Amino acid sequence: MNDKERVAQHAANRIQNGMIVGLGTGSTANCFIEALAHRHREEGLEIEAVASSVVSSIKARQHGLPILALEQLTRLDVYVDGADEVAPDLTLLKGRGQDLVREKILARASASFWVLIDPGKRVNRIGEKYPIPVEVVPFAWQLVRQSLEAIGGKAELRQNAAKDGLIVTSHGSLVLDAVFPESLDSATLDTLLNGIPGIVEHGIFSQLADVVFCAENGQVEEKRK
Ligand code: 5RP
Repeated sequence: MNDKERVAQHAANRIQNGMIVGLGTGSTANCFIEALAHRHREEGLEIEAVASSVVSSIKARQHGLPILALEQLTRLDVYVDGADEVAPDLTLLKGRGQDLVREKILARASASFWVLIDPGKRVNRIGEKYPIPVEVVPFAWQLVRQSLEAIGGKAELRQNAAKDGLIVTSHGSLVLDAVFPESLDSATLDTLLNGIPGIVEHGIFSQLADVVFCAENGQVEEKRK
């Protein structure tokens, strides 16, 4: 078992009968889906799940997890997902996988949001390793980019892997990957980005994570807010 599988297993072991569980997106979330499905199948763990993306929904169904549509959701006990960066105050950067609209909705709706990482995801400052993903309404991308420049940012439209087209999210949005001066802290940036018309969502997850599980050398460490 590698560290990613170990942290996923650690989280899956904490899921209890009767819970409604939000499933994140990405390689770590995939390990969690597998670990949870194993408990559902082998131990008869009774849960329902809601997925943050089409890929996670397909994976969960393939592994036999009962899936609820987000539209049916009236409560969410826990949301479990990975992250690209985690700051000391548990602010997260997410969205390399382009499904951050549903991810943030589920993170906010959950009674508890658990984040699964390895030590390489820890940073001192959000934006240290990756640009901030900013999902934009396609017809507004140019104006949003100007608004980002007005607050000191530099942004480029995210291209597909072959670099012959643009990434389009499951909501039909484009993604601007934006870099900002270090002097702009993540809380300020969060507020500024929330106020720009045309931005559908962005990758700064402030004050949402309740606990971060970090796997390293076979051990899992928990950090709570
Ligand atoms: C997707 C995300 C992922 O959780 C994040 O990119 C981490 O992915 P991985 O577990 O593959 O490292 O935010 O939008």
